[in-house]
Amino acid sequence: MNGDDLGKLLHDVDDYVEGLFAPRDPVLEAALENSRNAGLPEINVSPAQGKLLQLLTEISGARRILEIGTLGGYSTIHFGRALPDDGEMISLELEERHAEVARDNIERAGLSGQIEVRVGDARKLLSAMVEEDFEPFDLIFIDADKEGYPEYLDWSMKLSRPGTLILGDNTIRGGEVLDPHESRARSTRQFNQMLADDERLSAIVLPLIRERIDGLAIARVDG
Ligand code: SAH
Ligand code: DHB
Ligand code: MG
Repeated sequence: MNGDDLGKLLHDVDDYVEGLFAPRDPVLEAALENSRNAGLPEINVSPAQGKLLQLLTEISGARRILEIGTLGGYSTIHFGRALPDDGEMISLELEERHAEVARDNIERAGLSGQIEVRVGDARKLLSAMVEEDFEPFDLIFIDADKEGYPEYLDWSMKLSRPGTLILGDNTIRGGEVLDPHESRARSTRQFNQMLADDERLSAIVLPLIRERIDGLAIARVDG
């Protein structure tokens, strides 16, 4: 099979899964349309991956979620929908403009009562949360600037308890992580290595099909 055929097959398989398990949803479609109209980059998780995030949240029984990297709140809404009525979520976003679009989308999804978007550099916001002795989260989703992942993992460990689920988006990056000379993927490779080496974690990177092959890191804090 040549590269073009494989590319088409991956695309068709993703469409097939999406058609079965992530059917059209007016709230999510409106969220993407608002984000597009506001000029936000189209780098949200895919519909199928959103469904996976929602399922993982439900399976874990998470009641307190932290997201690092909100964009227009597309992934945020999937997590919010998986929360129980008394659950809560904080999402961190550098750009005020992104946060405004996200708050709007979250409101339209009927989730504003449970989700707070905080604006600032995640490094500072996370360090302040650790300083304040924040109650640990049940689930943390890392999806901001890729250079920051190793640092975000360190902060996430400090905001975790045994059993916390730590997820990391974009951990394969079209295979860039395989090449030790590919500087764009250096921090991602380091992040994956940290997950593999840390004895406090059980972890895997699950390859995912998107426009290109990417991956979702799934790690459980053991103790
Ligand atoms: N989770 C979103 C996509 C996030 S895209 C979804 O799937 O729908 C990455 C986001 O991280 C962008 O909005 C970007 O502005 C934000 N970001 C980049 N650097 C950041 C930083 N240092 N602190 C917080 N957010 C950051
Ligand atoms: C890209 C995709 C993402 O999911 C992300 O968080 C950042 C960038 C990308 O494809 O460029
Ligand atoms: Mg991402």
